[in-house]
Amino acid sequence: MHKITVRAGSNIAFIKYWGVADPAINLPLTSSVSMTLQEAHTTTTVAWQPASDLPADAVTVDGAPLTGDALARIERHLDRIRSLAGVSHRAQVTSRNNFPMASGIASSASGFAALTVAACRALELDLDATRLSALARLGSGSASRSLFGGFVLWERGVDDATSVARPLFPPDHWDLVDIVAVVSSAPKHVSSEGGHRLAASSPLNDARIAHAGKLLPDVIAAIRNRSLPELGPLIEMDALAMHAVMMTSTPNLIYWQPGTLEVIHAVQRWRKDDGLAAYFTIDAGPNVHVLCDGRDAGTVRHSLEALPGVSRTIASGPGPAPFELTDHLF
Ligand code: PMV
Repeated sequence: MHKITVRAGSNIAFIKYWGVADPAINLPLTSSVSMTLQEAHTTTTVAWQPASDLPADAVTVDGAPLTGDALARIERHLDRIRSLAGVSHRAQVTSRNNFPMASGIASSASGFAALTVAACRALELDLDATRLSALARLGSGSASRSLFGGFVLWERGVDDATSVARPLFPPDHWDLVDIVAVVSSAPKHVSSEGGHRLAASSPLNDARIAHAGKLLPDVIAAIRNRSLPELGPLIEMDALAMHAVMMTSTPNLIYWQPGTLEVIHAVQRWRKDDGLAAYFTIDAGPNVHVLCDGRDAGTVRHSLEALPGVSRTIASGPGPAPFELTDHLF
């Protein structure tokens, strides 16, 4: 039995993926840019066995066996890999996140990246990182970016082969830190999978898509220049534009909680009153990601933890591409 274990980092997007042109292949409406996270990762062990020995895929995440829709989503992904390899084997999969599921860090990004790489390698499918990125995208769009380390661009593309991520700058390019301020640990009421399909119903969607395209080269230049005063306002703009689309979809999606606004206002106050270079972004949930230079991370973290609405923080710099581990989870 060939067993492979892979660790992949989650990622935080600076230009967001929100809305699909083709839901069947998670073809996005925009290109997006992200930083792969060093400290927030998923480790996944995969072993394939003949269907005579293992009648069905068996998947365990953070100690609990998956069932229902969550299992079906993984099985569909394993089907893609089975069909590429031309086998009917079943997979035993055990996966562990080193961050809480409802922390505002995307477990689907690191999860599908680690699963894709481990499952392909365990079948000795020889796919390069670009092919793996396209394959991971079919599981979860943002997973396409977690196939690479550091700062990553996912080109929207026009079809399955061209909608892939590629690395822009390596992890050591910039000591940028993402600090998640957790304001709610409740599971989100609408998954991002459901949310992507709603984006087109917002009257603001076309404007946001056009604007994100204009921001993209400036975001890449700001990362190249390692300049937070350049990058920060752009990521805040796109995060707010994405949430404006969510809030004006039918039905509307309001992910924010009171603590979300508390963090936004605090970050803006620290910038204005204390000259602290910290900027926020928010994914499909209430928790706020605050970006700052490594030298300010201690101050920002301490200040965030002092806010009444913040229960905990999770900090991470840029992390590597997925890599193999020799210690297996089973
Ligand atoms: O990959 P998904 O379907 O979980 O979508 C992720 C969507 C956002 O996190 C809100 C934005 C992004 O680009 O990561």
